[in-house]
Amino acid sequence: MSQETNLNTLHFPSDWKDYSLIDCGNKRKIERFGNTILIRPEPQAIWKPGLSEKDWYKQADAEFIRDNINKKNTGELEGGWKQLRKIPSQWEIKYSSNNRQLKIGLQFTGFGHVGIFPEQATNWDYLMANLKKDQKVLNLFAYTGVASVAARTTGADVTHLDAVKNVVTWARENMERSNLEGIRWIVEDAFKFVQREVKREKLYDFIILDPPAYGRGPSGEKWLLEELLDQLMEGVSKILKPDGKLILNLYSLGYSPLLCNNLLKSYFPKRKVESGELVLKSETGYLLPLSVFGRI
Ligand SMILES: C[S@@+](CC[C@H](N)C(=O)[O-])C[C@H]1O[C@@H](n2cnc3c(N)ncnc32)[C@H](O)[C@@H]1O
Repeated sequence: MSQETNLNTLHFPSDWKDYSLIDCGNKRKIERFGNTILIRPEPQAIWKPGLSEKDWYKQADAEFIRDNINKKNTGELEGGWKQLRKIPSQWEIKYSSNNRQLKIGLQFTGFGHVGIFPEQATNWDYLMANLKKDQKVLNLFAYTGVASVAARTTGADVTHLDAVKNVVTWARENMERSNLEGIRWIVEDAFKFVQREVKREKLYDFIILDPPAYGRGPSGEKWLLEELLDQLMEGVSKILKPDGKLILNLYSLGYSPLLCNNLLKSYFPKRKVESGELVLKSETGYLLPLSVFGRI
């Protein structure tokens, strides 16, 4: 027996002048961010790449070489960047959607990231298309804040929260680059903040959350997705308005769109839930799965 559902929609950015996934395979990917071409590890790309090794290295400006994974049991990549050509260590790319333009500052980080998760672009589109002026938005685990800035372009009242001061500063710079102001910045443990908002009976029109598998609050509070996700969702369900919208992203390996759908249905039984995968489409024709998402 089979059942046709719309539980697994694949979302990927298209026509993005400043970003493309050139190719992927052999557990790596090669991407262009503006004029900078980078090779990075990609554990999900277990297939054969479309292009030859020679073609990859002819184009690449830098490569992140992993020396160990999970050394500190953080689930993060560990290693270092190897420059293959002389390139600036900081640069900027643009993202345009809904007649708005976001400017995003990039730089090399020790975990092999550059400050953006390009597969999230369809979430930014969704925020820009669905939010209205003065609606209250909460972005939890908000990293460098591209979603916060996208939300702010609509005139929404945005609260951005992350545990790491440096990434909140980076997010503020992204807001300023995009000629915006007025985002509320919070450096705090997401779990603690939500419990506090429940007590204060605060309500939001839109909540975005991207909880990692493992993390730490600024005072060392331990975040473990497996242990705390249900309590966090319980809190989130209490601070979302009855007709509010929500986007949940899960990057941890092993979570499926169906699981994400069930999770959201259990906390929001009266709401329609959409779920799927955030993927990137390579120039060589692969769809690279990166995260699952659920939306209500
Ligand atoms: C996967 S990233 C989010 C990516 C982001 N949503 C985006 O699209 O660019 C996870 C973020 O969670 C933050 N974080 C980890 N533990 C946290 C905690 N306990 N409270 C708040 N933020 C935390 C990290 O600092 C990191 O910026």
